[in-house]
Amino acid sequence: MRVTGTGHASMRIDTAAGSILCDPWVNPAYFASWFPFPDNSLLDWESLGQVDYLYVSHLHRDHFDAKHLRDFVSKDATVLLPEFPTSEMEDEFRALGFTKFLKAPNEQVVELPGGLKIMIQALTSPTDGPIGDSSLWVEYDGVRLLNQNDARPTDLSVFAELGHVHAHLLQFSGAIWYPMVYELPQAAKTAFGKQKRDRQFDRTWRYIDDLKADHVFPIAGPPCFLDDALWQFNDIHGDEGNIFPDQSVFLSEYAKVGGTNGIVLLPGSVAEVTTEGASTTHPVPVDEFFANKVAHLEEMRERKRPIIEAEKASWRHPEVDVLGEMKRRIEPLLDESIYLAKGVGGPVRFDLVGYDGESVESIVVDFPGKEVRPYAEEKVRYRFRTERALIEHLLFIDEVDWVNSLFLSCRFSAARIGQYNEFVYAFFKCLSEERLQYAEGWYDEHERTTDAEDITLGDWVVQRRCPHLKADLTRFGIVEGDQLTCQLHGWRFDLPSGRCLTSVGHKVRAHRVDAETPAPAGEALS
Ligand code: FES
Repeated sequence: MRVTGTGHASMRIDTAAGSILCDPWVNPAYFASWFPFPDNSLLDWESLGQVDYLYVSHLHRDHFDAKHLRDFVSKDATVLLPEFPTSEMEDEFRALGFTKFLKAPNEQVVELPGGLKIMIQALTSPTDGPIGDSSLWVEYDGVRLLNQNDARPTDLSVFAELGHVHAHLLQFSGAIWYPMVYELPQAAKTAFGKQKRDRQFDRTWRYIDDLKADHVFPIAGPPCFLDDALWQFNDIHGDEGNIFPDQSVFLSEYAKVGGTNGIVLLPGSVAEVTTEGASTTHPVPVDEFFANKVAHLEEMRERKRPIIEAEKASWRHPEVDVLGEMKRRIEPLLDESIYLAKGVGGPVRFDLVGYDGESVESIVVDFPGKEVRPYAEEKVRYRFRTERALIEHLLFIDEVDWVNSLFLSCRFSAARIGQYNEFVYAFFKCLSEERLQYAEGWYDEHERTTDAEDITLGDWVVQRRCPHLKADLTRFGIVEGDQLTCQLHGWRFDLPSGRCLTSVGHKVRAHRVDAETPAPAGEALS
């Protein structure tokens, strides 16, 4: 099996029974904030795009690059579709001209002509990607590969059960706006960033240890930030709180925990993977490439500047009545929302900075009051500050997912009272009837599910499944003193009270091993 690195989470898998192109991303994403790192735009995409199968793990724009898919990927390719709850991905592919689809039944091995086998695991909670993320398992001639990219299943057993895996490709770096955009003192930001960076690596080690593949390939990040306004997010400034470590940092951190089987793929690197081993060739020596990272980024910045400027010029739509349009689109969704609105539980304020860089219009999305209105000097749950032009653009293009556009762009700052609130972001990624209904239904089912099984961690008996997204705490749970941390997303819980310290709600059921009367199953979850 041949694996060609094509940048970020993208790869081309070649076997004698056919080829699969995965997640080809080349054009900048999220308001021209993210670019693939290392640069992959000079690869021979005309020939890379001539494939038998196409797989895109999810609809995040650093995975689903509509322009590139339209221009460079053969429309004869059969699209391997994860079993997602909505038809959005298939609709988007059809709009680009793709007509051949294989809807892979979730977690079932599908045998393709010539003996190529695939299995796709779709993750479908409202917090997985833009309503869905997925991983692809491939087997040919006894060689098995798992392209986990940035999916975060609770464990990898469904893949491990299919036999020893030879190549495991997974995310290790950051792909979020936290903590950089928060209005915090620099020391706090650095401390939170460092925690986050450590947690990302811990989660990666856990997945690697779960699967015990022969070879581990760090993929799906980091992106690079080429706009001058975002340049500081590149991990080139010696900031230990930077959440975007690169593949060379992965190798050195992995070595510290005993990892010796890491393989970095640069765009154009080719790994031949067999049951016996892997041999890899690179377009330039990997060490040399990372030693020259700053020069690479600076050269890219100059080359991509016209692209960024052209994008920026397209954002302003002064004719859009922002308050009126937000009311028209968001209020009907607030009316329908039960779980998300309750979960947010307070007003969320948007401060929109005008074209002059100074004037500010403040708009509130009032979740309890179910309305969108001018800010009225009240206390708010979250406050976002961004350019008015960005919101105009979102309204102009009728964007239904502000996470997959505004928030991932990092072109905003934020402040909040209290803990992280996942419902805020879940709501702003569900600005369509279809998505909102799905998310509401998911939380409805989730709320009703009680989880009676308990496990012992240190001095504590706790429910087996994490109250966040059901990670198995026998694998992901760590108890230190009276605090439980679930390493899947790093959420923390105060065990004596059961309170979640990371987000509102999500109480955990717990009692000391020697306590006389444990709480009845489910009671603590309400
Ligand atoms: S499943 Fe997300 S923190 Fe546990």
